[in-house]
Formats: sequence, C-alpha cells, structure tokens
Amino acid sequence: MFQILPNRWISFSLICLSLLLISCNSNEKEEQILSEGEIRQKNYIRKIPGKDEHVPDSVLSKGEVLIAYAGCYDCHRIDKKSKGPAFKDIAKRYPIQPAYRDLLARKIISGGFGSWGNPVMAPHPDISFEDAQTMVYYILSLEFQH
Ligand code: HEC
Repeated sequence: MFQILPNRWISFSLICLSLLLISCNSNEKEEQILSEGEIRQKNYIRKIPGKDEHVPDSVLSKGEVLIAYAGCYDCHRIDKKSKGPAFKDIAKRYPIQPAYRDLLARKIISGGFGSWGNPVMAPHPDISFEDAQTMVYYILSLEFQH
C-alpha cells in the first residue's frame, strides 16, 4: 500500500504535467501564427541575429554615392525586389558587423547566387575591397531609414 500510493501519485502528477506542457505548447503555437505572406517574408529574409555596429554618416554618404555610380541600380532597388533583392531586405538579414561586411563585399566583387533564390549577381572585379565595404555599410544601414 505504501508503495502503490506514491506510485499512483507519481503517474497522476506526470499526466498533469504532460497536459500542462501540451497546453503551453499549443498556446505558443497560437501566438506564433503568422499569415502566409509573413511566413514567406520570414523565410525569404532569414534574419541573422546580432548587434549592429554604429557607422559614421560620412561613410554612409560615401557608400550611397559609390553605389549610384557603380550601376547597382540596374538590378537592385532600395524598397523593392527587382533582378536582385531589395537593399532593405538585405539590410534586414545581416547585422552590421565586420564579418558580414567583408562577406558581402567579397560577394559584390566576385558575384554569386543562391542566397536569395536563383538569380545570379554579376561579378564587379573593378571595385576595390574598401569601396565594396563602404557600399555594404550603406546597404545595411537602410534597415533604419524610412
Ligand atoms: C546583374 C544584376 C546585378 C547587379 C548589376 C548588381 N547586383 Fe547585387 N545582386 C544581384 C542578385 C541577383 C543578387 C542575389 C544573389 C544571391 O541570391 O546570392 C544580388 C545580391 C546582392 C547582395 C546580397 C548578397 C548576399 O549574399 O546576401 C548585395 C550586398 C549586393 N547584391 C550588392 C550589390 C552592389 C553593391 C552592386 C553594385 C556594385 C550590385 N549588387 C550589383 C544582382 C545584381
């Protein structure tokens, strides 16, 4: 008797606990329900978490000018997807950090595909690494501009 009673209590509490967990889980799911458009947008952006570094305005305005003269707007728009992803969407994915700045600067110079679906970005071998880094700073800062 002494042994059975505690065992029963244990099973009872385990059942209660699982019921509690199940109900918590379903609550969580309800909170996370997103519209189909929002899910598509989330899967497209695939935001990388991380803190943004502060970038001086002088760098940003230099980046803006470099981009305007380098023909990037043949394939990119600030707000809208065209041949390439919208600059604001790129800004939403990557935190402003040296590692991402360099990754994207290299990609601008050597071109590539696969990060945003199938289209290919042509290489820009004439752009210096430093200018490409400055362009990236401008692009990534667009997340905070309206
Ligand atoms: C010929 C069209 C084209 C031109 C010109 C072009 N891009 Fe792109 N760009 C693309 C495409 C397409 C992608 C998406 C590539 C991918 O999915 O990996 C892209 C992606 C990018 C990305 C994100 C890369 C990543 O891995 O997330 C950056 C940053 C970028 N472009 C910057 C620039 C800059 C700066 C210029 C001007 C020097 C430029 N692009 C010119 C087509 C272009």
